[in-house]
Amino acid sequence: RQGDRLSLRLENGLSDPTTIHWHGIRIANAMDGVPDVTQAPVGPGETFDYDFDLPDAGTYWYHSHVDTVQQIGRGLHGPLIVEEADAPDVDDDIVLVLDDWRLDAEAQVTTDFGNRHDLSHAGRIGNVVTTNGDMDWRRDVARGSRLRLRLINVANARVFDLALAGLTGWVVATDGMPLDAPRRIDAPFTLGTAQRLDLIVDIDGETGDEVGLVELIRGEAYAQATFVVGEGRAPRSAAPSPLPPYPSFGRPILADARSVLIRMEGGAMRGLREAMSGGVVRDGRSLAMDGLFWALSGQVGRPDAPLIEIARGESVVMDFVNETAFPHAMHLHGQHFWEVGPDAALGDFRDTTLVQPGESQRVAFVAHNPGDWLLHCHMLSHHAAGMGTWLRIV
Ligand code: C2O
Ligand code: CU
Repeated sequence: RQGDRLSLRLENGLSDPTTIHWHGIRIANAMDGVPDVTQAPVGPGETFDYDFDLPDAGTYWYHSHVDTVQQIGRGLHGPLIVEEADAPDVDDDIVLVLDDWRLDAEAQVTTDFGNRHDLSHAGRIGNVVTTNGDMDWRRDVARGSRLRLRLINVANARVFDLALAGLTGWVVATDGMPLDAPRRIDAPFTLGTAQRLDLIVDIDGETGDEVGLVELIRGEAYAQATFVVGEGRAPRSAAPSPLPPYPSFGRPILADARSVLIRMEGGAMRGLREAMSGGVVRDGRSLAMDGLFWALSGQVGRPDAPLIEIARGESVVMDFVNETAFPHAMHLHGQHFWEVGPDAALGDFRDTTLVQPGESQRVAFVAHNPGDWLLHCHMLSHHAAGMGTWLRIV
């Protein structure tokens, strides 16, 4: 529940080091689970105690932050749900973990984790898509039920293009953070890598109908989560109320903000001419030999110095400019940011923003959570191939 403290022990039963990152939680920096930034990696047979406050209700997730292409690709992740004191009026609250897996002919996870094609193209896209680990997730529901669906995209690199089929629905939260007012869904929508959406949907079909969530791939709809409609009552007539608002972290003042330009470069079809790595300028060819294909503002891999050092209370505007041929899901640890529209209006409040090829996305926030925070692409192969940096908030 919101306001609780979460205390648990990681026991590493793997034969490799690992850590746990609590994605989207406004956490104390020392508990953020980033190897060599906030803690030493936890070796095989070792333990680490995580102990932190949960200041905000919402839909979050947790995952390994070591060798993520492999460890998350093999399934080291889970949902983390922080409940509001006043839950919305729904008949059921359902977590839907959307994932894809790359399986071989024997249905085993393929072990080509570091392959250069994934590193330099879209990342490790799977060939089997699941919801809660099931290729055909379905549930019987009564007609007239109102459901809260918590969608979490835990895939290595997949961007889910989704639509509601036979359901009336509203978005009520993005990346765990409530919208001021529910937003009616009247078109397909996108769930970028690592993003979450809380939906409220009404089951208003006829008995026996199969309704639900579909993934759209090149114009075809594939069932992602299916509800089989049973006997019930008429759907509610009123639209849902908003979720209780999150505590205010301060709204950024764009005119006074520190401004950071984050140029995203590299990858197949564009290439990287040169970039800084380990404090020296290297040409793209030699970086590629080391499996490094992507740069943020001319820098490959995590630099020694922060991209920017910000004082608490300062407003920050970051402009992500995607000069590559691929989408990137840019995630900031430790606090959320607003997506800023072309009219300078503050849009959705998120911890991960999807930037399409050739496009730019402005985000803004007030720095308030002190520490060293990672900022990286959540297409895990891209992060492994250089697409990550960090900020310092003092
Ligand atoms: Cu969910 Cu640094 O990531
Ligand atoms: Cu990327």
